[in-house]
Amino acid sequence: MDHFTYRDGPLCAENVRLSDIAQAVGTPVYVYSTATLQRHFKLFDDALAGLPHLVCFAVKSNSNIAVLKTLGDLGAGMDVVSLGEYLRAKAAGVPGDRIVFSGVGKTAEEIRTTLQGGIRQFNVESEPELDAISAIATELGLTAPIAVRVNPDVDAHTHAKIATGKSENKFGIPISRARAVYAYAAGLPGIDVVGIDVHIGSQLTELAPFRAAYTKVAELTEVLRADGHAIRRLDLGGGLGIPYSRDNNAPPLPSEYGAMVKETLGHLDVEIEIEPGRLISGNAGVLVSRVIYLKEGEDRRFLIVDAAMNDLIRPAMYEAHHDIIPLVESKDPSAIYDVVGPVCETGDTFARGRAMAPQQAGDLVAFRSAGAYGAVMASEYNSRPLVPEVLVNGDQFAVIRARPSYEEMIARDTIPAWL
Ligand code: LLP
Repeated sequence: MDHFTYRDGPLCAENVRLSDIAQAVGTPVYVYSTATLQRHFKLFDDALAGLPHLVCFAVKSNSNIAVLKTLGDLGAGMDVVSLGEYLRAKAAGVPGDRIVFSGVGKTAEEIRTTLQGGIRQFNVESEPELDAISAIATELGLTAPIAVRVNPDVDAHTHAKIATGKSENKFGIPISRARAVYAYAAGLPGIDVVGIDVHIGSQLTELAPFRAAYTKVAELTEVLRADGHAIRRLDLGGGLGIPYSRDNNAPPLPSEYGAMVKETLGHLDVEIEIEPGRLISGNAGVLVSRVIYLKEGEDRRFLIVDAAMNDLIRPAMYEAHHDIIPLVESKDPSAIYDVVGPVCETGDTFARGRAMAPQQAGDLVAFRSAGAYGAVMASEYNSRPLVPEVLVNGDQFAVIRARPSYEEMIARDTIPAWL
């Protein structure tokens, strides 16, 4: 459930008409709902009630510091994959002991700065990374808490570009080598082995792959404990999918996911961490766009909107579906459009043969489920300034990232002296 609903005609984010935001800020614009972010965080928090746990929001899905502060103020931890994300979490007021650092390629600078700034744990993905963390921690006279990310060789049944838990993927160490790697880690100075980490992919629509992975992690926990490692935390990654369309079969609910976690891992007396991104932020955001032209093709009609693949790349990159709905309620889905942006490549297509209410130039539409992997993946391709972001809270809204002016965009380039 989210807080983007029609209220006697106009589509609203909580109590604010999206058309009012479009009027004030211009289009395209991302709009997020505070109440939806809060609701989704609480669903996970409640789902794990009874187990010691920390829900660490995957910052990569939406890294605006106003979004991070909204969640951090509820007690959320943060899962970060770069120094930039770490510094954003810090700027949002989240303390280091609630920040987990994931990712396959942490640089020495990233390790040093986060160790000094305070970090809950590094999720380590290789032995060379263990060596690097050990060396830097020792040099700084600090101890680095670590979990090793294991690759359980489980098929997540999701889009190939976002599956991470098969042995051919670059992530984690093979679970078959875990005992050796934990023995190696335990012998290194400056390293405190605190747990095990696993993340098998994103937009999972069934529980079975999670269950398979977590069962393997439960077995590994007992094996590693028998080897003498004090495994006290399990980081289960993110990945629970969201409904991208009202017509789709809905993925499992956080409560069902939580029950499965308790069933597979509840007996182990460990603290659970999870790293959901999409399920918290995805349906908490829409991208509002204006129709520029209607164009008659030979055998189709194009709806040309002012948002493009540089603003929302998911359809071009993953063949992803986003519902596109009018800003004024309509029960008439009689028009069929190819919805496209102004960018100069055919991949800049949001939907083909989409049935929707008839549109005219100047009308406003909303791309739903755009709060995760939307603004964060935007670029300035075709020299289109980065799309702005707005946060709604009840009756109020605020611009939380302004649209850069053309001058600002161009001023970042410099012409060398020889020209
Ligand atoms: N933890 C780790 C280690 C991850 O790699 C990810 C996502 C998450 C947590 C959060 O996953 P979520 O709960 O959001 O599914 N750009 C793609 C998604 C890439 C996901 C990458 N890793 C998309 O737009 O679908």
